[in-house]
Amino acid sequence: MSGHGTPIPMTSRPCGPLRGEAHVPGDKSISHRSLILGALSVGETRVTGLLEGEDVLDTAKAMRAFGATVTDHGGGEWSVQGVGVGGFAEPENVIDCGNSGTGVRLIMGAMATTPITATFTGDASLNGRPMGRVTDPLALFGTQTVGRQGGRLPMTLVGAADPVPVRYVVPVPSAQVKSAVLLAGLNAPGQTVVIEKEATRDHTERMLQGFGATLTVEDTDEGRVITLDGQPELTGQTIIVPRDPSSAAFPVCAAIITPGSDVLVPNIGLNPTRAGLFTTLIEMGADLTYENMREEGGEPVADLRAKFSPDLKGIAVPPARAASMIDEYPVLSVVAAFAQGVTDMQGVKELRVKESDRIDAMAKGLRAAGVTVDEGPDWWKVTGLGHGNVPGGVTVASVLDHRIAMAFMVMGMATQKPMTVDDGSPIATSFPIFEPLMAGLGAQVVRANA
Ligand code: S3P
Repeated sequence: MSGHGTPIPMTSRPCGPLRGEAHVPGDKSISHRSLILGALSVGETRVTGLLEGEDVLDTAKAMRAFGATVTDHGGGEWSVQGVGVGGFAEPENVIDCGNSGTGVRLIMGAMATTPITATFTGDASLNGRPMGRVTDPLALFGTQTVGRQGGRLPMTLVGAADPVPVRYVVPVPSAQVKSAVLLAGLNAPGQTVVIEKEATRDHTERMLQGFGATLTVEDTDEGRVITLDGQPELTGQTIIVPRDPSSAAFPVCAAIITPGSDVLVPNIGLNPTRAGLFTTLIEMGADLTYENMREEGGEPVADLRAKFSPDLKGIAVPPARAASMIDEYPVLSVVAAFAQGVTDMQGVKELRVKESDRIDAMAKGLRAAGVTVDEGPDWWKVTGLGHGNVPGGVTVASVLDHRIAMAFMVMGMATQKPMTVDDGSPIATSFPIFEPLMAGLGAQVVRANA
């Protein structure tokens, strides 16, 4: 199965110590939002450090299709000439969001209250993912939707001509759903209120305020209540995209499991809605420290130093932490394989509807590599074998999921025998420099036919 052209099998061989600095790419969530909010603003938005992965490039193309001028100035410098709130033009063609759930769901929200029609599609992974979680609340604004069974793409949205503001309690912990509703609320009159019972990544709230929207957040017994005043004039901003903690997870975890390693991963945003993995690794006994702690653009930032950690132990990961590390469970399960004892991950139903069913994909690959995994609908447990004891030596499926592919490449750095994924091409969606970056640290990740 490949939606990214010819599959590229990739092999990771057990390697010596990983050493040096890992400069990971810009944050994916903030990159999407920079382009979308830039397109909804009046004037120019300048973006430095944009993630130039396929997911974000698809969002850039989509913003052009809706009428914004998006320019690549080279070296991660981009600009967006926006059309203003309510200013989206009707796209002439189908919008292809590739592999990106964030892209499609946020863009659906951004166009839902403008009287235009747009049709969305994606790759085999994205076209299998549930969109009802977004189109249900958008219907409350007056948006009409026709899609495939089960609320799947391809799907056509007819934006509401006379949108009404909405009060919506998000039924699943999802920043994408929350963000889609807030972006739709931009072009509705009055106040749109979104309530989330569990806090999810808050980049949309912070960035909307930065672009000039009036938005308040209150912690109440009902949950986090976010109130947005509709029909603001957003004005172009200068954005420096921080480096992605979800990408930092891969060199950090690789260093922790690979004997002799000492890797510095500079300038990582430690927004508490994103940093749950690092807390979890420290609780497992990892030698992971925050150096040069500082604040940048209102967000905590640090350089992460990760060293080989021979005495990892399995832990129960608190379910309340799930949202703050939801994309990091695949690579955490790899670290868990090298720990002593059981790592118990509960309250993670959302993992089943990501780019793949991530519990299923990791469980299959880990079991094939000799690791015991138990699972239920919203939980899984990995029984660690301890350092030096994980067999590996198999080819596993990456199921069109960048994080599954990268997790197994990290695993192969410390298994007894190499690990191969059937297709490493999805890595380009979020971490296009993964292979040279890992090679620079001393890893041996190679394309099978190279
Ligand atoms: C994202 C939200 C999360 C996350 C995804 C990025 C975002 O998805 O998994 O990689 O940028 O809003 P959900 O909202 O489905 O949890």
